[in-house]
Amino acid sequence: MHRVVLPETGSFAAWRDAARPLAAHGVPAGDVEWVVGEAAAPSLFAPEPLPAGEGRALTVPKGFVELAERVILHRDPAAPGLLYEALLRLQSRRGLLADAGDPLVRRLGMLDKAVRRDIHKMRAFVRFRELPADGPRRRFAAWFEPEHRIVEANAGFFCRRFADMDWAIHTPDLSAIWQDGALSFAPGAPRPDLPDDAAEALWATYFANIFNPARIKLGSMRQHMPLKYWKNMPETGQIPAMLAAAEGRVRAMQAAQATAAPARAAAITQRTRAAMPQPPARIETLADARAACAACTRCDLCHAATQSVFGEGPEDAALMLVGEQPGDQEDLAGRPFVGPAGQVLDRAMAAAGVEREGAWLTNAVKHFKFVPRGKRRLHQRPNAGEVQACRWWLGLERQHVAPRLTVALGATAALALTGRGDAMTRRRGSVEATPDGPVLLTWHPSLILRRPDAAEAEAAMAELTADLARARELLAERASGSGSP
Ligand code: URA
Repeated sequence: MHRVVLPETGSFAAWRDAARPLAAHGVPAGDVEWVVGEAAAPSLFAPEPLPAGEGRALTVPKGFVELAERVILHRDPAAPGLLYEALLRLQSRRGLLADAGDPLVRRLGMLDKAVRRDIHKMRAFVRFRELPADGPRRRFAAWFEPEHRIVEANAGFFCRRFADMDWAIHTPDLSAIWQDGALSFAPGAPRPDLPDDAAEALWATYFANIFNPARIKLGSMRQHMPLKYWKNMPETGQIPAMLAAAEGRVRAMQAAQATAAPARAAAITQRTRAAMPQPPARIETLADARAACAACTRCDLCHAATQSVFGEGPEDAALMLVGEQPGDQEDLAGRPFVGPAGQVLDRAMAAAGVEREGAWLTNAVKHFKFVPRGKRRLHQRPNAGEVQACRWWLGLERQHVAPRLTVALGATAALALTGRGDAMTRRRGSVEATPDGPVLLTWHPSLILRRPDAAEAEAAMAELTADLARARELLAERASGSGSP
C-alpha cells in the first residue's frame, strides 16, 4: 500500500507530484491511501515508496487539471483518491469528463460545485474590521469559516482587490496574511477578538436601502447567505427588524405602483410575434405539425426560447418516449435529449436493449423554460398551464406516430400524457391506460443527475433501465401476439 500525505497548502502540486509516478506505473487506485494535513494519523504499516523510473507517458485534457485544482480543496477525504481514479481512467478514455452520466464524473462534478460555491461565498461574505495601524498602511482583519480548504486558492482575489492595505483573513485551518505587498500563510487559530469599526454603519445603511420587501424569500436568502455567515456580517443584524416591517412596506408599494404597462411593452410583444415563422394553413402530416410548432405562440415560453424543439425519430415508431421540455443544449440544437439528461437516457436505453434510432423522442413542452443567471440559463419546471397549452403538439405527435407504447419520463410527461399530476413515487413502473394508448411511467433521466448520493443515483438508474427493458418486452409480446399493449 502506498500512502501519500498532502499538505494544507500546495496540496494540488503535492497531489500531482505523487499521482504522476503512481499512475505512470499503473498503480491501481485501491493501492493508494491519500491523507490531507500534516496532523494526519500515522499509518500502522510502513508505506511503500513511490515507484522510481519514468513509467508510461501520461496525458490529460486541460479541463482535468482545472477540475483537480478545485476538487483537491474539498474536505471530503475521498477527493484525492477520486481524482487519482479519474487520472487512471483518462489514460484509456480521454473523453471521460464529458460523460455526465458516469458516477465518478458526477461525483467529481459535485465536489467541484461545492468548492466553487465556497470560493464564491468567501469572496462575498468576508467582512474586514479595521485595526490600529502604526505605519502608513491601513490594517484590517477578518474571521471566516470556509467549508473547504479554499483560503490559499482564494487569497489572490483579496490581494488584487485590497492591494494597498495590510490585511489578514483568519480561519480555523489557515490564516492568509498580506503585508507590505507580500502574501504569506500561517496556521489557523481560534476566532480572534476583532473590533467593531466605523464602516459597519455604512454597510448597514447600504443594506437597508437595497432591501426590497416585496422580494423576500427567506429560503433563498438562507441558501445564498447561509446563517453561519450572518454572525460575522454587520448588515445581517437588521434583518429581523426589516422582515417585521416588510408587509407594511409592500402594501405601501402596491398602493403607489403604476397600473398601466408602459406603451413600449405592446410594441415589443407585437414585434416578437411578427418575427415568428408563419405556420402552414393546414396540418395534415407530421412535417406540417413540426412547421406549425416552430411558429407556436400558445404560451409565453416562445418569447425567450431560441426555437421550438419538436420530436424526432421514425414516423411509425412503435415506442414513443416523452420527456419534460428541452434543456439548454436542446434549445440551441433544436433536437430533444442531446444534453446531459440525453446522455443518461442513452446509457439507460443501451443497457435496456432499446435502440434510440427506433423510437420517437419528444417532450411534453416544446420550448425551453429558464431563468437567466449570469451567463447561464437555469432550467425551470413548466407549470400546468404551459403543459396544457403544449398538449396540442404532443397530441398531434401521438396521433400521427400512433406508437404502440408511450413511456412518460418523469412527472411533467406523466401529467401531459395521463392528465394526472400525482406523485411519481407511487406510479413509477406501472402502465396506465389512456385514450391514446398505454403509457408506462418511469423516472426522468435528470433525476439521476440530481441525486447527491451515488448509491441513490445508481438505484434510480437501475429502475429507469428496468422500466425501459420492460417497455421493450411489452412491445415484443405485443408483436408476437401474447401481451396487452
Ligand atoms: N430533458 C428533457 O425532458 N428533455 C430534453 O430534451 C432534454 C432534457
